[in-house]
Amino acid sequence: MKIVFGSDHAGFALRRILSSRAIDQGHTVSEVGARDEQPYDYPDAAAEVARRVQAVGVDFGVLICGTGIGMAIAANRFKGVRAANVWNEHTARMAREHNHANVLCLGGRLIAPDEALKIFDAFLAEPESKEARHARRVDKMDMLGDAGEAAVASKS
Ligand code: RB5
Repeated sequence: MKIVFGSDHAGFALRRILSSRAIDQGHTVSEVGARDEQPYDYPDAAAEVARRVQAVGVDFGVLICGTGIGMAIAANRFKGVRAANVWNEHTARMAREHNHANVLCLGGRLIAPDEALKIFDAFLAEPESKEARHARRVDKMDMLGDAGEAAVASKS
């Protein structure tokens, strides 16, 4: 798979751990954002990862800041990007299965590396549910914004 990783300074250490794991697993990895632990603005990395996920060819994005919150808020402003701030294996699986998340957000100051590795593996392994109710809800999410609210309302 092609995976793009991004982080600010607070997520830098965990980003390197997860990207190394992804390389070891044979994935094609690229990294954006902080080059070290010097202050770096998380929206810049979120935007770069979101644009690459929007473009054809990237399977998943992974965004790490201190809490995962800023990254998720920023990335979800990009149409077609479904960024989930996840804190354990269960929420990682649910984000993929029910929400068809294509960007995993993590809090580098909140989640221990061992747990983050398990979360990462769970996120990558879980397929999107093809059940109609989940597909319909994801379609509605992707129509929100712009003129999308009217289209969503018309489907209710
Ligand atoms: C940086 O101090 C921190 O605000 C950032 O990493 C992130 O947690 C924001 O959501």
